[in-house]
Amino acid sequence: MDKKDRHFHGKHFETLAVHAGQHPDPLTGALVEPVYRTSTFVFTEERLENWLQGTTGDEEIIYTYGRSRNPTQISLQKKIATLEHGEAALVTASGMAAITMALLGYCKSGDHVISAQTVYGGTFNLMAHVLKDLGIEVTFLQELTAENLTKAKRNNTRVVYFETVANPTLEIPEIDEIVNWAKINGVNTVVDNTFTSPYLFRPLDWGIDTVIHSGTKYINGHGDLVAGVVVGSTAFCEGLRKKQYMDMGPILSPDSCSLMLRGLKTLHLRMEKHCENALAFAQAMEKHPKILAVRYPGLPHDPFHQRALKYFNDFGGIVSLEVDGDLKKVQELVFQLKLCYFAVSLGDLDTLVQIPAIMTHGKVPREEREKMGIMNGMIRVSVGIEHVEDIIGDFEQALEKMK
Ligand SMILES: Cc1ncc(COP(=O)(O)O)c(C=O)c1O
Repeated sequence: MDKKDRHFHGKHFETLAVHAGQHPDPLTGALVEPVYRTSTFVFTEERLENWLQGTTGDEEIIYTYGRSRNPTQISLQKKIATLEHGEAALVTASGMAAITMALLGYCKSGDHVISAQTVYGGTFNLMAHVLKDLGIEVTFLQELTAENLTKAKRNNTRVVYFETVANPTLEIPEIDEIVNWAKINGVNTVVDNTFTSPYLFRPLDWGIDTVIHSGTKYINGHGDLVAGVVVGSTAFCEGLRKKQYMDMGPILSPDSCSLMLRGLKTLHLRMEKHCENALAFAQAMEKHPKILAVRYPGLPHDPFHQRALKYFNDFGGIVSLEVDGDLKKVQELVFQLKLCYFAVSLGDLDTLVQIPAIMTHGKVPREEREKMGIMNGMIRVSVGIEHVEDIIGDFEQALEKMK
């Protein structure tokens, strides 16, 4: 499958995942970007003069202090921006910090945001509580149709926000319709591309203004750090860096940047395996009598299959299951798993299983959670890169024990 041309700057995605943002160290020839573990950078007379005059592009960066920029971070930002087909990127200390930066880049007190109802629990809480306290109001819509958006729009609406694949219900919005509406109405679009990663989908190619990621997930891919990413125009990312980023300080450490640079080199290989395993896992779970429903856009009868075919290069690594039983039964099941880990997060090499009603969306009030379609019997599985027969076998033995 290849819905959109994966070539960029004349190169294939796989080549760019390995090479983009990388330049052998001029001093030593070191191929891998060094970890610049330093908080400050010494000025010479010439550097001070250049800095005071102001710098324009990445080539002329005058590094001053680690809260602003660091060479390892710049290398990572170039790689991510290239893979997302963006002009620029900014990496942050977490996915939540990236969402906060992107929204504060567009909104100030008195502004209004329209968001999809079903989003990651932390995102919902940020919007419903933190932004509200800052004087930014958010309207949540169950479906982001042009008609609903028009009804929700106010004079002060600045952003429409959604996830490419909703966490954890795996709904996929009609992205074309949202982008067209936003362009006609002069509203910015911010999209969370965490579930799809740039290997499956590049929102900027479809007219989205700004992309965010929980870099903790597929971007890094190895479960050994927490990070976030903002990708968009140079004007937007530079504006953020100079203002909100510098003054609020959600920097990503050089060590984490280095790990992410390494993780991204295998994004294509990991995503292919995640997708292959998730499809086989979803197909196997569909046949199980104790599973009431399987949500996976790769299944031909899934309500979002056609949209996934339209927008994505494959169907992703996340499968949501509904078990025949209540919260107690679901807990009984996950504690019987012997190979797959009962843990939050996703996009790791290991298969991770969590119960949205009490974990990722546990702090979302029950009424709001139910509007999102998150019931107590739901389990979200981030299918890892182990042998799929072992993942399926683990679920089968656990389901067998569930009464
Ligand atoms: C879709 C999505 N977006 C954003 C986040 C927040 O990212 P982080 O935990 O890196 O802050 C998460 C976390 O699980 C997520 O699943």
